[in-house]
Amino acid sequence: MDLIKKAYEISERIKKEDEFLIVTHIDADGITSGAIAFETLSRIGKDAKIIFLKQLDEKAAEKIADENRFVWLTDLGSGNISLLLRRKLEFVISDHHVPEMTYKWQLNPHDFGYDGSYDLSGSTTTYLVSRCLGLNYDLSPLAIVGAVGDLQDSREAKLVGLNRFVLEEAIKYGYLNAIKDLRFFGKQTRPVYKMLEYTFDPYLPGISGNEKGAIEFLSSLGVEVKREDWVRWIDLSREEKRKVVSGIVRVCMEAGYSYELIKKIVGETYVLLEEEEGTELRDAMEYSTLLNATARYGFEEVGLRVCLGDRDKHFRKARALLQEHRRNLSAGIKLVEEMGIEELEFVQYFHAKSAIPETIVGIVAGMSYSIASKNKPIVAFAYSEEGVKVSARATKELVERGVHLASAVREAAEAVGGSGGGHSIAAGATIPRGKEEEFIQLLNKIVGLQLKR
Ligand code: C5P
Ligand code: C5P
Ligand code: ZN
Repeated sequence: MDLIKKAYEISERIKKEDEFLIVTHIDADGITSGAIAFETLSRIGKDAKIIFLKQLDEKAAEKIADENRFVWLTDLGSGNISLLLRRKLEFVISDHHVPEMTYKWQLNPHDFGYDGSYDLSGSTTTYLVSRCLGLNYDLSPLAIVGAVGDLQDSREAKLVGLNRFVLEEAIKYGYLNAIKDLRFFGKQTRPVYKMLEYTFDPYLPGISGNEKGAIEFLSSLGVEVKREDWVRWIDLSREEKRKVVSGIVRVCMEAGYSYELIKKIVGETYVLLEEEEGTELRDAMEYSTLLNATARYGFEEVGLRVCLGDRDKHFRKARALLQEHRRNLSAGIKLVEEMGIEELEFVQYFHAKSAIPETIVGIVAGMSYSIASKNKPIVAFAYSEEGVKVSARATKELVERGVHLASAVREAAEAVGGSGGGHSIAAGATIPRGKEEEFIQLLNKIVGLQLKR
């Protein structure tokens, strides 16, 4: 396969250097990518430093250049190749964002006819390089955590494409199990009623965001909320699990959700066999949420340390951050519910101002689909230091009908003096304050054109 050959070529290039700067993204996919690169380099005796970026702009490029090291960009970089070349940097990339151009030392699924939203994440792409540099099969579960963190399993309720190549390697070497189960967050660690209360994807009327409703729902099914201790999903018997799943399906049917959506409530879930049962790290979805809870709040070092094996101080800190992250997501979705979503002809949007941190507004935007119209992309604005952060999310159906958010968002952002990029199904940008209205009108037009094409 050409892609595997390219991974090998890049690994050969890496072998020639001694001092590295790993540059990666501040989300679960980015942390796992960075951790894989970091660990891979340490194992072959290379000196590596790692930095985390929200986005790769002129300022960041200057910082990278100042380090005077050979650069390995993971989970970002493909959208900014010309910027890096202008700085005369020497670098390799393992990324899955839509590439700005071809580049000799870039491993990117798009260059080989794969889709970077589903077939490979930053972490699985990086892992494909890593496995050419040593017996690094034990890093494959981390790669899977990154892919799940980027929701690459969302379309078919399981990982697809080349992600499965990595998955099969992880299973073959005994690091991971793929099992059919409920695809909700918190199965390992949360009391079942809390897990349900905090489920917003899909939004469960009367249960999501409603502690009392969640408890009543379980009681009505005859499932105990508490025995000696709070009952977690993993504590339930098969029969109890079946009852809860049927109950959830009924709630979703009553809410009028599509068969497509309901079908995906149960799917493949990934169990990390080397991790202790009942911890966040045992389940790929929970692990990825834990990582998002660190880096998206400026504690990327904490997430990185957990990926590299810390189960002590940094793990405890990550868990504390996770509590806060959950509260923020829950408050975020409630806020969107209260303020409502503005609809234009082809897109819908909300402006969170400073009420939702800009680093998680994209996650909230994606979750908002459960309470918004499904036939338009959702755009979220939030204030950031640099101006206004834009996060846009589409659905698989919209993408199939021609919507490409990365190109639409990039074009609209650049027209108002900002910049952006991403994937067909999820994209983001930063634009100057006061340009929101102009941006959204333009985006509405561009998405309209994409749909008519
Ligand atoms: O920067 P990065 O590529 O890691 O981010 C991808 C983003 O796309 C994630 O925030 C993820 O939630 C979003 N996504 C999505 N739906 C998908 C695939 C990805 O919302 N089907
Ligand atoms: O930040 P958010 O989760 O909305 O990002 C969605 C996607 O858009 C990610 O893949 C991210 O890397 C990309 N993005 C970008 N340029 C930005 C902001 C986000 O390419 N300025
Ligand atoms: Zn990614």
